[in-house]
Amino acid sequence: MNTQGKDSTPDRYGVVGHPIAHSRSPFIHARFAAATAQSLLYDRHDIPPEEFATQLRALFATGFRGVNVTVPHKESAARLADVLTDRARRAGAVNTLAVQDDGSLLGDNTDGAGLMADLAYLGVELRDRRILILGAGGATRGILAPLLAAAPATLTIANRRLERARELQRAFGDLGAVDACIYEDLPQRVAAHGGFDVVIHATSAGMEGKLPAIERTIFAPDAFAYDLGYAPGDTAFVHWARAAGVGRVAQGLGMLVEQAAEAFFLWRGVRPPTADVRRELELTNATPAPHHR
Ligand code: ATR
Repeated sequence: MNTQGKDSTPDRYGVVGHPIAHSRSPFIHARFAAATAQSLLYDRHDIPPEEFATQLRALFATGFRGVNVTVPHKESAARLADVLTDRARRAGAVNTLAVQDDGSLLGDNTDGAGLMADLAYLGVELRDRRILILGAGGATRGILAPLLAAAPATLTIANRRLERARELQRAFGDLGAVDACIYEDLPQRVAAHGGFDVVIHATSAGMEGKLPAIERTIFAPDAFAYDLGYAPGDTAFVHWARAAGVGRVAQGLGMLVEQAAEAFFLWRGVRPPTADVRRELELTNATPAPHHR
């Protein structure tokens, strides 16, 4: 919602997470605001889990129009919202809260749309391709619906704990066939059907620079490897995929920009251009992290 013009005070937005110090969202939204001539303020808020609801209510009471929500608050944000969009309900998680005209709080999830916009930008085909998702947590839940809607040949979720992959198989089965397995079953899948064309890393192991127990044989020739996470230089998964001989790799910086653009659109009713911000972020992110040197 755009309340600009009612008075001269810029509308306030922000990102909430824990930790949040390294979030790129303030940079991205400042660029979007400049590119679309929108007057707004956007800042970071480090909020511990037990204070999420009270601090969020306080922000909205002081006039905030919306916030982005990141780890570990996305499920709490879904509970806080008065109304959920269909995609947020499916995801069971909210990454964007917006105050509506009637004062109620709308919870949306723009992560899946952000991923799809990024894959389109990168020219990655999904239709009739064999997709493998590593991990069965909240990140996977947020992207499953649009991936299944893209009509892949197969979609496999591999996870340490089989039951969590099975849960997602059940929850999204109405949208398309989902295969669920543990990492140790992947060689057998590959032997039977060949490698995967698109491999998406969606575990939280990467935050500690770790990887699930996977082997390079998961990749089909000309495979594309994508990490939902991002880190200075390469993420551990992108680094590993390159070393495994995968030529087409990307990390989630583009998705970060695209999900932010979707949130900006929800708040302001204006779609910001993303290409320049993507380039700027990629340039500043190109320095390898010490543990990858
Ligand atoms: P979030 O909602 O932030 O994604 P989550 O729901 O706890 O967090 O999901 C984390 C995902 O990362 C899960 O798929 C988890 O695997 P399990 O369900 O088997 O626990 C995965 N994960 C976390 N650490 C991992 C590690 N060291 N190796 C492999 N997978 C890991």
